[in-house]
Amino acid sequence: MKLNCTTLRHAPALAALMTLVACGGGGGGGGTTGATSDGGAAAATGSATAAVPAAPAALAAPAAPGSSIALSAFSASVLRLDGQHLPDYAPQLPAHFAGVEAQDNTPAGTTGSPAIATLGRVLFYDKALSISGTVSCASCHKQAEDFGDGTRFSTGFAGSLTGAHAMRLANVRYYLPGTMFWDKRSSSLEAQSTQPVQNPIEMGFDAAHGGVAAAVQQLQGLPYYRDLFVGAYGDPAINEQRIQGALAQYIRGMVSTHSRWDDAAAQVFDPTLPDKGFNKDLPGFTAQENRGRQLFMANRAAGGQNCAACHQPPSFALSNSGNNGLDAGETRRLKSPSLKNVARSAAFMHDGRFSTLEQVIEHYSTGVQDGPGLDGRLKGPDGQPLRPNLSQEDKDALVAFLRTLSDPVLAADPRFSDPFKPQADVAAQLSQ
Ligand code: HEC
Ligand code: HEC
Repeated sequence: MKLNCTTLRHAPALAALMTLVACGGGGGGGGTTGATSDGGAAAATGSATAAVPAAPAALAAPAAPGSSIALSAFSASVLRLDGQHLPDYAPQLPAHFAGVEAQDNTPAGTTGSPAIATLGRVLFYDKALSISGTVSCASCHKQAEDFGDGTRFSTGFAGSLTGAHAMRLANVRYYLPGTMFWDKRSSSLEAQSTQPVQNPIEMGFDAAHGGVAAAVQQLQGLPYYRDLFVGAYGDPAINEQRIQGALAQYIRGMVSTHSRWDDAAAQVFDPTLPDKGFNKDLPGFTAQENRGRQLFMANRAAGGQNCAACHQPPSFALSNSGNNGLDAGETRRLKSPSLKNVARSAAFMHDGRFSTLEQVIEHYSTGVQDGPGLDGRLKGPDGQPLRPNLSQEDKDALVAFLRTLSDPVLAADPRFSDPFKPQADVAAQLSQ
């Protein structure tokens, strides 16, 4: 697909930039025609360079790709990045996260680096990943909204609404077996990350519109990707596998460790106990929050609701489970995003059917429906769905506990902010 000089009018700065490149200005982006979209050309380690066109000497691979990115003046005019001091995206886990590494879904052999994650950050915010140039991953996974979307459904590149509620992304790294989407239809975060690009509602590069190959071609028209791919992988080739690896690595950096629950849990953490001490009274919690914590953590024999068996602390990512009985007869086995920051959302479950946490708790209290996919942990000894009919006090306590999982730190972490300069700056640079 050729870049169309007239289709990008809704994104003025991007249109200006892409027009510059596609319509004769700029230069520098045209030489990477050897890239493939099947992901087969170059390994994420950066070692396979056979299918890559020779780079000019000045752009040859640095000795240790990954620690920095050499930004041209043009790239520096578009991106708010300090290429020589890239942040580290490897999680810095507090002590009470000990053991969570066992749930890490990063594929074995993945090579990580600040430059690869930074490339992922730019891709995540780049509207050029949609066919219209109007929608980025961050349009639906907004940092200020915990990498989710406050609305029930999200708006795609052509104004249509998604069929599911956008999932928050924090702690997605700690979901095993690593399958993605509410219905787990994608085998890994890597495989998932180019699905939105090809989705006919979300970003529009579906098969009829050239698929990922056309998206790759659109990115090849943007000169800053030469610098970013060289920094990340040692050469400028753009292909699907590299895009997937970079997006996945960036997203796996979104780890939430700074909620009120974390601050308190860190003080009672005891790795020798089966529940790691997380079911003790938590310092600084109100009596109501502690009651909610007990209901969430304890199993039914101990008077709790066993929520933690599925939504596992300290990541609060789901254990691999069946569904939670939203609809009678449901056959699908569904997953949930981590409950970190759940209280800051306003639409819950895969179809966003609930708009308050009170409705969510009412579901677990009286609404669980039977079906072939219902998880055994929500069934009683008689095989029937559990409907414990919680008291109002206990329902309120569970909601209060869920509110302690909000993490304002991740939502403001500069490593995950928009790396593009405000459009005015780009326009000013381009007009010089
Ligand atoms: C138009 C809105 C929209 C855009 C754009 C979008 N997403 Fe999503 N995202 C969603 C929705 C909706 C879901 C849930 C879809 C489902 O399960 O069927 C989702 C789910 C996900 C998940 C699954 C999380 C989990 O725990 O299983 C990941 C990861 C993700 N998106 C990453 C991305 C990336 C990377 C991009 C950009 C390449 C992107 N999204 C673009 C709306 C969007
Ligand atoms: C059998 C495992 C299981 C148990 C036990 C369980 N859940 Fe869930 N939970 C799920 C699944 C699966 C989903 C996603 C369902 C969907 O959207 O189709 C979910 C969704 C949620 C959500 C909405 C998440 C979001 O981002 O929309 C909240 C909140 C929640 N559960 C809280 C709880 C609480 C509180 C308890 C205990 C009373 C509990 N869960 C018990 C499996 C479980």
